[in-house]
Amino acid sequence: MSILTEHFDLSDGHTIPKLGFGTWQTPNDVAPEAVSQALEIGYTHIDTARAYQNEAGVGDGWRTSGLDRESVYITSKVPAEAKTYEEAKAAIATSLEQLNAGYIDLLLIHAPKPWPQMFKADMPRYFEANLQVWKAMEEAHAAGQVHSLGVSNFQVDDLTNITEHAQVMPQANQIRFHIGYTQDEVVEYCQSHGVLIEAYSPLGTGRLLGNPDLSVIADNNDVSVAQLCIRYALQHGCLPLPKSTHRQYIEANTKVDFQLSADDMAALDALKLDD
Ligand code: A2P
Repeated sequence: MSILTEHFDLSDGHTIPKLGFGTWQTPNDVAPEAVSQALEIGYTHIDTARAYQNEAGVGDGWRTSGLDRESVYITSKVPAEAKTYEEAKAAIATSLEQLNAGYIDLLLIHAPKPWPQMFKADMPRYFEANLQVWKAMEEAHAAGQVHSLGVSNFQVDDLTNITEHAQVMPQANQIRFHIGYTQDEVVEYCQSHGVLIEAYSPLGTGRLLGNPDLSVIADNNDVSVAQLCIRYALQHGCLPLPKSTHRQYIEANTKVDFQLSADDMAALDALKLDD
């Protein structure tokens, strides 16, 4: 069976295709071709964000493909900087307009804090602000503009803040996850609480591809390092979102219907790679 026909079940009753097509760093003028190629190859799940400034291109790529809206799963994200109800509401309206695809399948809060504060210690936590953003997202959900809600780059306390107050539960947490960077605490929490982990940068934004340790394991399995990385995320129960703008890579990244042994997984788990 091809990964392209497999799904994860979300706890709200929706399903989500197991492999997504990442578009972070894909410019808006490149997105239509990259997305339409991915859909032609058989991807049915495209991941974008307001912050990527390519929602219009992603929407165009879907329209070019000629596929029914129901055959394609589209994720977008409320910008990390939108931390009031009004800002979130306006951002959602803009995403819907830019995508021009009727509805959004999955809408995420892009990050718990605005980007400049994300990776600095001793910054405010925005717990109340994220609840205001969530309220705007719940309204879009109630209006049928969005089918499922989730978060991105959230740690456990960011997530419990939402789940303790939400009417509509988060279905996914999209985080950086790749060999050598696995964020075990948040992954374990989410997976034991029915929140799907989506893995962005599953190839380490390309940096893993030249790693000699990974080349050895990939060669032993007769696959590329990219395929090894994607398979690794899947075997951890995560939904990988590999990004590419090259047709041969986009296609090769779907050929992941092999199994990594427990020994290989343990060796990969033990690798801790520098940032
Ligand atoms: P490009 O976009 O030029 O096609 P990640 O998914 O971790 O963010 O990694 C994306 C990076 O990895 C991009 O630079 C992308 O190149 C590259 N890439 C994606 N798939 C492959 C592949 N199968 N072989 C080589 N490079 C790849």
